[in-house]
Amino acid sequence: MCGIIGYTGKDQALQIVMRGLAALEYRGYDSCGLSAFSSDGDEITVIKKAGRLKVLSEALSTVQLNTRCAIGHTRWATHGAVTEENAHPHRVGKTVIVHNGIIENYKQIESELQCSFQGSTDTERACALIDRYYEQTHDGKQAIINACSQIEGSYAFLIMFEDEKDTIYATSRACPLIVGHGENGSCAISDISACRLDTYCRLNDGESARLTPDGISVYASDGHELKGRLLPTDVKTELPSKNGYPHFMLKEINEIPTVLRKTVDANTKDGLPFFKSIPDSVLKDMKRLTVIGCGTAYHAGLCAVHTARELSGIDGAAYIASEYRYSRPTVKKGDVVVFISQSGETADTLACIRMCRSLGAYTLGIINVPYSTASFECDGVIYTHAGFEIAVASTKAYVCQLAALYLLIFKASLLQNALSEKKVSEYTKILKNDVPENAYIDEEKRKTVYNIAKKHKDSENMFYIGRGIDSILCSEASLKLKEVSYIHSEAYPAGELKHGAISLITPDVSVFVIATDKKLIGKTENNMQEVSSRGGRLILLGDSEMKSCDIIPCNSLQGIFSPFAASPLFQLYAYYTALLRGCDPDMPRNLAKSVTVE
Ligand code: AGP
Ligand code: GLU
Repeated sequence: MCGIIGYTGKDQALQIVMRGLAALEYRGYDSCGLSAFSSDGDEITVIKKAGRLKVLSEALSTVQLNTRCAIGHTRWATHGAVTEENAHPHRVGKTVIVHNGIIENYKQIESELQCSFQGSTDTERACALIDRYYEQTHDGKQAIINACSQIEGSYAFLIMFEDEKDTIYATSRACPLIVGHGENGSCAISDISACRLDTYCRLNDGESARLTPDGISVYASDGHELKGRLLPTDVKTELPSKNGYPHFMLKEINEIPTVLRKTVDANTKDGLPFFKSIPDSVLKDMKRLTVIGCGTAYHAGLCAVHTARELSGIDGAAYIASEYRYSRPTVKKGDVVVFISQSGETADTLACIRMCRSLGAYTLGIINVPYSTASFECDGVIYTHAGFEIAVASTKAYVCQLAALYLLIFKASLLQNALSEKKVSEYTKILKNDVPENAYIDEEKRKTVYNIAKKHKDSENMFYIGRGIDSILCSEASLKLKEVSYIHSEAYPAGELKHGAISLITPDVSVFVIATDKKLIGKTENNMQEVSSRGGRLILLGDSEMKSCDIIPCNSLQGIFSPFAASPLFQLYAYYTALLRGCDPDMPRNLAKSVTVE
């Protein structure tokens, strides 16, 4: 879940590593640190802090570190509290390490090593094991191979040995790690966009690399050198910028109309859906829509399954990846399974991709980040073109996932003769023109959302209720609110409330109703009356005659297209609520953007 970066070369390593950490901080931000060889290469300095990157920057401003070789880390704690001792890098003997992942057998390693430790992380135990082998072999590469054969779990490691001047070792298993040339030297990073690279190589499970200022050698797990692994890349490094916005989350909500157009443009040709990497035969034969993802991506899947059924009678189901991977698989050879992931690095989703592939399914990824693990591992990929999404709470990526999924449904429906070409062209046109237009939040709506958020910000408990597609949107709206504002909230189909949860409705509870579906509004209004009779405070996103509620108007897009108008509004509601409660919407507590551990 963390971000790691290493650099050795001709340029100032500290600047490159700190710039990279700033780009990677969204991946984890409990604590951070770096280690650097002194300019004569004789010793390694470690500086680390609990807290965000700015605390590390302040600490660095008081020391003189002229270095050409450094490694850095932003942590998302899995084992051990968020303290300076537990922050990375860890040093044991002559070995210094940063780590992304979880060492599952760290207790066993600890008891076998019988030495004392400064902190309680799994990483420090792995570091001690590598150092023990280094003491025996005096060979960094061999020490890592020996230790890794004993380590169970997932890892991306960057390792320095005090005796191996200006050298960094990199190795990984089930965690993303890229090595490459760039910035006048050799780099290792967990995310390709955090460094300017001319060539790159994704390390496969068990592979390792040795980085020196002069070049990179890549090795197989048995230590033999793999030639020709570095390929050219043209990925642009973009330091995340708020472009004048106070937060990334607000910037990203406002970008929705633009990125929706990009996603539709990139996946259409002559007014119809078009996917370069997916043969028509795959979608023609797709009998069911099976979708797998986590969190927001799973919610996008739920919406797609609903839409496919309503629009063209294609049945299907959406599954949570962490559950699916341990359930009895029903997928068989020839099935199509759709995997949704913004980052393309989510551990549970990747495990499901591997499982479904091994069962002979065609794996189709809906992915935002190019060069991510899922983008390499899926048989076919539809890219969402949301651009970098930095705020932990997904906003623009979710809406682009919906657009990509809708195009997929249109295309499958056309190929299966469930929709005519005329109909598909009409729907594609709506997605291209009306949808982005109606996803725009004007000043009047923005003020309305702000004022309603202000009125309800102190409710410690909330419900989101709706019917049909609105009920599905409620799950995402509720997740958004809880992750950034820390308000306890639950999503319920409106008609289901009275089967139990209505016992929790009191005058202290706010109930956010999503009611964009005109056909069901009468039924939803009955449920609103039930809430109102018990003193619950109502907010309505939609259009209603009911007077006793706070209304966020949303009557522009109807039916299957309503999520595109409603989502930016409930996202903005969550953003303002977080702000009004003094929470940081971009980096909410306990969360990380990219969940690379299961
Ligand atoms: C969304 O707001 C969350 N941060 C989270 O649920 C996220 O959608 C989930 O972790 C899946 O991530 P992915 O799309 O990168 O796979
Ligand atoms: N498991 C390690 C720790 O808790 C690494 C966590 C991470 O990936 O940031 O320190």
